[in-house]
Amino acid sequence: MGPARTPRNHPDTREPLPSRAMRVLLTGAAGMLGRDLQTVAAAAGHEVVALTRADLDISDPQAVQRAITAAAPQAVINCAAYTNVDGAEGEGRDDAYTINANGAGYVAHAAALADARIVHVSTDYVFDGMKTTGPYVESDTTNPQSVYGASKLEGELAVARAAPASHTIVRTSWLYGNHGPCFPATILRLAAERERLSVVDDQRGCPTFTPDLAQALVTLATGRHELLGVVHVAAAGECSWFEFAREIVALAGVDCTVLPCSTAQFPRPAQRPAYSVLRSERGAQVPQLRDWHDGLRDYLRVMAEESG
Ligand SMILES: NC(=O)c1ccc[n+]([C@@H]2O[C@H](COP(=O)([O-])OP(=O)(O)OC[C@H]3O[C@@H](n4cnc5c(N)ncnc54)[C@H](OP(=O)(O)O)[C@@H]3O)[C@@H](O)[C@H]2O)c1
Repeated sequence: MGPARTPRNHPDTREPLPSRAMRVLLTGAAGMLGRDLQTVAAAAGHEVVALTRADLDISDPQAVQRAITAAAPQAVINCAAYTNVDGAEGEGRDDAYTINANGAGYVAHAAALADARIVHVSTDYVFDGMKTTGPYVESDTTNPQSVYGASKLEGELAVARAAPASHTIVRTSWLYGNHGPCFPATILRLAAERERLSVVDDQRGCPTFTPDLAQALVTLATGRHELLGVVHVAAAGECSWFEFAREIVALAGVDCTVLPCSTAQFPRPAQRPAYSVLRSERGAQVPQLRDWHDGLRDYLRVMAEESG
């Protein structure tokens, strides 16, 4: 990760940039997705203003306004979020709404005032997961079943209200990456400790590798044509958590038996959608991601390199 730069320690923010390169401001830049976004956006030749939570708390509207005005970006990608799905059912409820709903709106409002595009990241949890006729597309009815999902849906509405002519809301699902706690990391840790693992087999989705999503977000934020409204971007293919875990263990070559179990056997405070496969109905203009198996192979390669 490159050093996070704030507008204050980045004095040349108003200098002209080379043609096609943009100044892209990231919020939540130290998160799992935010860290890959820094790398991907910089590699694409964009000037990156990476603001961590310590640099900018998106629940403070004045601070958001000041930071975005000072940086004068052409595009803003909001990765800042309250992501503790179970915590939001309890004490985290207010934080979830303050950050995921109000904060998202503040960022979009400030981006619109600065004449910057806003790309906002949302989730499959806006759906109830009961669809039986194929993947969820953008026009499907939302019906969140958790506080987290409801707060993210309010965030979508707040972004659309604050930046009606310049927003792209990207719903994605089942993120994992090399810079954060995630499902494959948990499975690798548990598989090294145990002979058997039980993993739920009655929830299906699209495990999406954060560098792949980051590439799509940068394309949407900086491409010549703006894609207004909601788009679904998730890895191709689908699986259950059990199938995902079984593949992780097999590809990593760990000696551990993975067994299927049901969600009812492992109750959690927040209800998860049983089915959350996301696809886009908006045609070729939406970036297509590769199959989840390919992302997983890259994830495991990086993990192996890092562990020496
Ligand atoms: N993870 C998934 O499976 C998944 C699936 C679908 C969609 N998403 C969405 O994808 C986006 C990125 O998620 P992620 O997995 O990268 O989550 P993450 O690793 O938890 O990153 C979120 C970042 O936001 C920061 N943050 C929290 N409150 C903030 C505030 N008030 N102001 C500024 N920054 C704040 C967090 O900082 P602290 O760590 O210091 O709190 C963290 O660095 C989120 O919008 C999430 O809802 C995630």
